[in-house]
Amino acid sequence: MAASSAVLCLSKAVKPAAFGGLFGNTVRVFGAAVCKQRKVSTHTGQIIPPPAKYGGRHTVTLIPGDGIGPELLNHVRELFRFSCVPVDFEVVNVNSSLASEDDIKNAITAIRRNGVALKGNIETNHTMPPSHKSRNNLLRTSLDLYANVMHCQSLPGVQTRHQNIDIIIIRENTEGEYSSLEHESVSGVVESLKIITRLNSLRIADYAFKLAREKGRRRVTAVHKANIMKLGDGLFLQCCKEVASGYPDIAFDSMIVDNTTMQLVSKPQQFDVMVMPNLYGNVVSNVCAGLVGGPGLVPGANYGRDYAVFETATRNTGKSIANRNTANPTAMLLASCLMLDHLKLHDYADLIRNAVLTTMNETRLHTADIGGQGTTSEVVQNIMRIIQSSSTLTAEI
Ligand code: NAI
Repeated sequence: MAASSAVLCLSKAVKPAAFGGLFGNTVRVFGAAVCKQRKVSTHTGQIIPPPAKYGGRHTVTLIPGDGIGPELLNHVRELFRFSCVPVDFEVVNVNSSLASEDDIKNAITAIRRNGVALKGNIETNHTMPPSHKSRNNLLRTSLDLYANVMHCQSLPGVQTRHQNIDIIIIRENTEGEYSSLEHESVSGVVESLKIITRLNSLRIADYAFKLAREKGRRRVTAVHKANIMKLGDGLFLQCCKEVASGYPDIAFDSMIVDNTTMQLVSKPQQFDVMVMPNLYGNVVSNVCAGLVGGPGLVPGANYGRDYAVFETATRNTGKSIANRNTANPTAMLLASCLMLDHLKLHDYADLIRNAVLTTMNETRLHTADIGGQGTTSEVVQNIMRIIQSSSTLTAEI
């Protein structure tokens, strides 16, 4: 029977200890962080309302987005069905070509209702007038998803210039250069406002230090350009210093953003946890994704006090490769695992994550972005085969 046509019921068979032995080293990648997460809140001690759950099943908002988003999220749904994950999706489509904000408002309402979302990226046409706001940005600011978290790790089976990269990037996700406040009062002179507030800088710095402590990390590096933006980035840096003084067990240093990008491409292993304002976070997270193999590999998460939204870390739409069955599904599948961890469905998260990472070792299945000729569906089918065989083995133990 083809793996994709079978549906397994794993709810009773899942035994995480058995998977640890079964997959050997691969469970350490991403998995190590997950094991630690179980002992403490994934939200650095914050109290969040329970996500929507009916009859023992969670309801999660699913926003397919544009480009490769719909096909990758279809694979997530297929894999969840196959693995009997107790999650139902409420699908909300957002049409990025419409001027009206009705679609994105519906999506935001659905996330408020369900608490959790998994999304593809929504295209932003930058030739539209400034009043047309990025739907992605609107979603994050409306839900106050202030912390973007990306864990960038060297992956098994992927050839890259640098090895042993293990960096957690915390990006302020609601202000900075993303205020969408621009004007041209004098023709030919545009003012684009970057907003840095003490409150939000303290909040993101505290998030970074709490997360560093939870994960047993040793050092937090604040990234800034305070030598030029003395007030704005100066305030951000000052807030990081203040928060650092409350965490004597974790070392703190800072680095100017231009030097940071140079250091990253030269010696990325020197970084542990990094915290930074919005735009630097975007640039640095894309550099880091490139260091470990590209946009198809790294998952991302956006956390606020009340809601959590999961997506790929670099948030590309991949429009040029849409509907070709060539996109790398790894980043989106790993994002779905982060979501399962958030819902405390750790066994399912471990099961799928281990199968995804084990598949990374199969170079013959690598998709074009990492130098192979494999297709998206071949990768997913292999993941299903691994899940099927591991559940059979586990059931026998
Ligand atoms: P893109 O979508 O063109 O992707 C960049 C490259 O990465 C392309 O070569 C693409 O084929 C490749 N790629 C991305 N995902 C892949 C995967 N899973 N497997 C294999 N290859 C993959 O990126 P671009 O031009 O930066 O952005 C396109 C759209 O996304 C724009 O509308 C932009 O506004 C939006 N965007 C929004 C962001 C946000 O946070 N709001 C961030 C980045 C992009």
